[in-house]
Amino acid sequence: MQGYGPETYGTASAEDYDDFYTDREDEVAATAAALCELAGPGPVLEIGVGTGMVAEAIASRGFDVVGVDSSPAMLAVARKKSAGKPALCTADATVDRIQGSYSLIYCVFNTFFMLGDRAAQIVFLRNAYDALEPKGRLVIETFVPTAERLGNWRGRVVVADMTATTVTLVASRNDSERQLLENQKIMIRDGRVELAPSQFHYHTAEQMDKMSGSAGLTLESRWGGWSREEPAAGSTKMIAVYTR
Ligand SMILES: C[S@@+](CC[C@H](N)C(=O)[O-])C[C@H]1O[C@@H](n2cnc3c(N)ncnc32)[C@H](O)[C@@H]1O
Repeated sequence: MQGYGPETYGTASAEDYDDFYTDREDEVAATAAALCELAGPGPVLEIGVGTGMVAEAIASRGFDVVGVDSSPAMLAVARKKSAGKPALCTADATVDRIQGSYSLIYCVFNTFFMLGDRAAQIVFLRNAYDALEPKGRLVIETFVPTAERLGNWRGRVVVADMTATTVTLVASRNDSERQLLENQKIMIRDGRVELAPSQFHYHTAEQMDKMSGSAGLTLESRWGGWSREEPAAGSTKMIAVYTR
């Protein structure tokens, strides 16, 4: 999307992020519980920590957690809630070397697909490999990019929310050849229009394994959900656990 960069999503979405995802409590708890089981002794690193929802839940279980994000706006929201835990720092995970050494690095809620294009994602995978302790794990959770869910739309608009005085629309277009999904959330309220763009460079599970393999990582397991469900035809999520 023209004009889209590593800070764009956070700048436009930070203020409303937690309100928009109030129904995510159970999912965050399940995500944190599964990640704690994989974490080893710690420390733990979240890439694209956002407002800190998952990192806070893991830190509250006694782990040392560091959260990295390219968006100062997202981190400002996280800092208001965190009281120093998790530790937070601004960095572009596809450019900056990861500081420190971790027994678990994770990137959840489709964030891996948002990090940049395929080349940038591979830079991140190499950085993650270097920052993992021997036998450390990298966990990546994304949506499953099926043809039914991602038709080759020239463009479509859905109504995400509507009241007597507000409406939230999501305009999307998908380029299945480039494996690029672009969304624009359009919020109309109090006579104002606000835009919140997002874009996803997506991959199949096989493509993810190839990219991770090229960075030196090995697939340990793949699940269709945080209760370690077997991936199935109807799975909407794919969770890959890679090891160094
Ligand atoms: C969908 S949000 C997910 C936030 C959080 N992980 C959660 O579960 O709520 C994606 C986050 O990734 C961040 N992000 C996008 N590109 C990034 C990059 N290149 N490096 C670091 N963070 C990035 C965005 O700023 C945003 O906070």
